[in-house]
Amino acid sequence: MTHPDLSLLTTVRADLENARRVLVVTGAGISAESGIPTFRGEGGLWEGHRPEDLANPAAFRQDPAKIWRWYRWRRGLCNDARPNPGHLALARFEARRLQDAGWTPEVGLADSPILLATQNVDGLHPRAGSQARVEMHGNIDTGRCTGCGAIAPLVENPKAPEAAVPACTDCGAALRPHILWFGESYWPGVLELCLHHAERADACLVVGTSGMVWPPVAIALRAKESGAKLIDVNPNPSQVTEAADHWLQGPSGVLLPRLLDP
Ligand code: OAD
Repeated sequence: MTHPDLSLLTTVRADLENARRVLVVTGAGISAESGIPTFRGEGGLWEGHRPEDLANPAAFRQDPAKIWRWYRWRRGLCNDARPNPGHLALARFEARRLQDAGWTPEVGLADSPILLATQNVDGLHPRAGSQARVEMHGNIDTGRCTGCGAIAPLVENPKAPEAAVPACTDCGAALRPHILWFGESYWPGVLELCLHHAERADACLVVGTSGMVWPPVAIALRAKESGAKLIDVNPNPSQVTEAADHWLQGPSGVLLPRLLDP
């Protein structure tokens, strides 16, 4: 529904206005209108591979150069992309709430009146200006050493053809993308922070995720169990739609400005 029923939009706006604390969970769909293919939709495949077959430690051990080719391709797309009206509307909404609450980064994320928990590694939320955020699955512009564990921004040009597997400047071991892969545990503190917000949120806005990766759905469901209104923004039904109090059916780049801007 790219023209959602006005009364539904009014109801959801009121739920958000009445919420003292808000949790936002985003997935690949919010970046679709920036030209970044979603994982499971059309164009989500890379050279015939499913993401699950590439984004895992065994695939990296077997053929690190292939995994780096995939990530360089994705990193090039992400770096060329621009935040779309959905990212920007969320950032404005967040900024108003943070300002009203007098929140600054020194206060810390646990005490923020809003938390943006994104599964996206594309960096478009930070580039849109979102501050109170956690990138649950990492960031595509960051690498991690497989030897000493050092984490550092990637300096290589993602478009360099046939580039070698990058090496750690400290110890020389191979770098891997600092991205959470299938079969790996969330980094310490990430789920705890999200659940802390889920248990305190009065509204939980879920945008552009299929919910095929379970922890982000579990966070949204925890928010609902704890009393939050659950709102799903997605053109297609997702794993949260059934549990949602409201489904705003349509593209987030169209719906979020209408929902969130004053
Ligand atoms: P998916 O590709 O599984 O799902 C994308 C969702 O976005 C679908 O539900 C679409 O209907 C929806 N969508 C498409 N266009 C949209 C638009 N314009 N506006 C809003 N929604 C739209 O992506 P995720 O759910 O984010 O994990 O995938 C979760 C995780 O699986 C990813 O973070 C990644 C992946 O494998 C790891 O790499 C660990």
